[in-house]
Amino acid sequence: PKKRGALLPALHLVQKQAGWIAPETARELAAIFELHPIQVMEVVTFYNMFYDRPQGRHHVHVCTNLPCSLRGSRDLLRQLEQHLGIEAGETTADGRVTLGHEECLGACAWAPVLRVDETYHENLDVEAAKRLVDGLE
Ligand code: FES
Repeated sequence: PKKRGALLPALHLVQKQAGWIAPETARELAAIFELHPIQVMEVVTFYNMFYDRPQGRHHVHVCTNLPCSLRGSRDLLRQLEQHLGIEAGETTADGRVTLGHEECLGACAWAPVLRVDETYHENLDVEAAKRLVDGLE
């Protein structure tokens, strides 16, 4: 059981190197930690900081919790989906952007809030958000 306590750090390490947790990786980790592969994937899918599919070079996440929604974030997300030609949870074909939404980012006073990788962008309108996304390499 104590061994299992190292699963989270191991997942972080794998994801840092590979960018996501592949099924094969989950099987290997399961063998190391004496777990069933599904138990590893349960951890991966429980925490939103782990990814069970390949990701884009940038994560663009729109906060869709209530204060941001009241300030237009759901429309902002829909507009970005159309602009990028993908739905939330998907990655552009060129691997540039993975679009998503998440719960409160703790910056409600500056709603609507959008996170690009580790950087918050606040009080954005749709056009500013599109320019921001277009500028990502
Ligand atoms: Fe969006 Fe809090 S609801 S930052």
